[in-house]
Amino acid sequence: MDFKRILVTAALPYANGPVHLGHLAGAYLPADLFCRYQRMKGSDVVFVCGSDEMGVAIMVRARKEGVKPQDIVDMYHPKIKEAFAGFGMSFDIYSRTTTQVHSETSQDFFRTLAAKDVFTMKTESQLFDPKAGIFLADRFVVGTCPTCGNENAYGDQCEKCGSTLSPMELLNPRSTLSDAKPELRESTHWFLPLGDFQTRLEEWIATHPEWKPNVLGQVKSWLQDGLRERAITRDVPWGVPVPADVALTKKIDASGKVIYVWFDAPIGYISATKEWAIEQGKPDEWKKYWQDEETRLVHFIGKDNIVFHCLMFPAMLMAHGGYVLPENVPANEFLNIEGEKLSTSRNWAVWLHEFLEEFDADLLRYALATMLPETKDADFNWSEFQTRINSELADVLGNFVNRTMTFAARFAKGKVPRLLNPNDIDKYTLKEMATFPDRIGSAYDRYKNREAVFETMALARLGNKYFNDSEPWHTRKTHPQQCANAIHISLQICASLAVLMEPVLPASAQKIRDMLNMSSVRSSVPAEKHGGLDEGIGWDAASKPLLDEGHVLGSSDILFTKIEDSVIEAQKAKLGNNPAHMEQELPYTPIGDVITYDDFAKLDFRMGTVISAEAIPKSKKLLKLEIDLGFEKRQILAGAAEYFEPSALVGQKVAVVANLAPRMMMGMESQGMVLMAEGRDGTLSIMQSSGEDGAIIK
Ligand code: MF3
Ligand code: ZN
Repeated sequence: MDFKRILVTAALPYANGPVHLGHLAGAYLPADLFCRYQRMKGSDVVFVCGSDEMGVAIMVRARKEGVKPQDIVDMYHPKIKEAFAGFGMSFDIYSRTTTQVHSETSQDFFRTLAAKDVFTMKTESQLFDPKAGIFLADRFVVGTCPTCGNENAYGDQCEKCGSTLSPMELLNPRSTLSDAKPELRESTHWFLPLGDFQTRLEEWIATHPEWKPNVLGQVKSWLQDGLRERAITRDVPWGVPVPADVALTKKIDASGKVIYVWFDAPIGYISATKEWAIEQGKPDEWKKYWQDEETRLVHFIGKDNIVFHCLMFPAMLMAHGGYVLPENVPANEFLNIEGEKLSTSRNWAVWLHEFLEEFDADLLRYALATMLPETKDADFNWSEFQTRINSELADVLGNFVNRTMTFAARFAKGKVPRLLNPNDIDKYTLKEMATFPDRIGSAYDRYKNREAVFETMALARLGNKYFNDSEPWHTRKTHPQQCANAIHISLQICASLAVLMEPVLPASAQKIRDMLNMSSVRSSVPAEKHGGLDEGIGWDAASKPLLDEGHVLGSSDILFTKIEDSVIEAQKAKLGNNPAHMEQELPYTPIGDVITYDDFAKLDFRMGTVISAEAIPKSKKLLKLEIDLGFEKRQILAGAAEYFEPSALVGQKVAVVANLAPRMMMGMESQGMVLMAEGRDGTLSIMQSSGEDGAIIK
């Protein structure tokens, strides 16, 4: 399929806190690299985003700070917007979901689905806080987890064992809003019966075998478990109101009912596009981007949003009709910081606004792009950041441009010298240079940003190697024309770099263009006119020499300065350490009762290898594992489904309690137990050893 235009979305961040590196690595940097590349390529791109301002997450934050939800979003929305701008996000629009356009768009969408009889309705008893006067949804209620006994499980999830819960499943529920004992009251809600879309979704997903394996893996496991209906309304005082006319047809009083945030938020992409169109003075222009099948719709998100973007929102779009479906959803995995899971409550995070107070955005764009969690969780650490800047940006890229400019100024009168009788190295280098727009571009097009950035740096390496090999400091005395040729070709490589670096290092690319006195390069940020092509030098032109002989260069400037160790140490020290963001530390579980050696000796631990792993339909927690103990195979049911994709366990070495009496679970026999380390936050990891299968662990 040939697409005429591209609509790119990046997940709408909740306006309940500042942006950190985890956000950037998940969705925003990849989306921006893609959009800037596409604009340089000459594609018609619209890039939309905005703050996600509805939902219980905002209310919880507001309560914590003793203010109204509106105050929270009014405080964070401009901060987020400003930090994104400082990072160089090239949105065509950064909107928010408290706009009138958005509430109307969501309500219209809801109305259309209701009129098509897509929804089901159910009346159920729900927890109600008589003192606060509201129904206790999601995080407004805590209680004892029915699965693990954690006494502080939330109404939507137990953070200890990871189970997804509904408030009614909690034992001893308590309101987090008041000390009142929750009562049961009846309430009616709208549900989106995702099961009705299962087949259509399966058929559609089957047409996208090219999606990233981490995305397809999650999608297939949701489909395999069977899609269930989801409540898409809530009884809370903050959100887009359920349209009263729709409620009336069901003889329900809509007052106090709002649309669930995961229903309205993705519609926020549509509302933002509408607002963009209005700003362009062409209010209907949004339709082309959403309703014309020649649009390539791409959603950039983090992995926790996969189900909503690959199944729920597409089902909503199918139900509505007339909309394009995403052509790809290149979700990234998570970013750890210095080897530990990112945690905003522990301030184990690097905040974008704080970063930008000390460093240029380009440094972060580059370093982070080399560390993106594209196929698995990745780690940001400050030492690696320093190395990337010092030995790649400064030593390779900066050094090459600097040497070239210095030689051009001193030995070519600050002009592009003439190329005459190029030798083999010269010709080879120009031929190599010609391959870079495609090499880098195809990587961006396939959402392989790390590869794209690596290839970009490979062009600078080519330049540096060429400069070394042609030794202009010698030839300038012995063979002046060869020296001129070397300066000529090095300048051409700088010029190509100044185009091809643009997605990842936009400010530095502009600096090089200024040094080279290059003009009329196509813009990678939203241009004034849309639909029409920007005439400047575009991506593909960078395969050929861009500077004319005799062209007068600008003046040289330092591109990158090295980062000192002390600066990096200061950044590391900030981690986990800023009381402003700190909440309570998670407690360590006390050591258990003392046992004798004989007690211990009764346990028979063995090494084994997982030979197969599958999700168990109807169970959110359990995985069915087949484990090879060397001398025999075991079927073991492990409560690890919420922490591991089944495929990630296959082939892994594990430690097994081999003499545990068999137990029946979900109608299947479990013949032993796999040992796992449970972190204080409930996360699970397997015990690693290289011992052979059947080896005794003692
Ligand atoms: N606010 C959500 C989050 O941060 C993402 C919303 S994406 C959208 O996880 F599609 F709903 F907009
Ligand atoms: Zn639990």
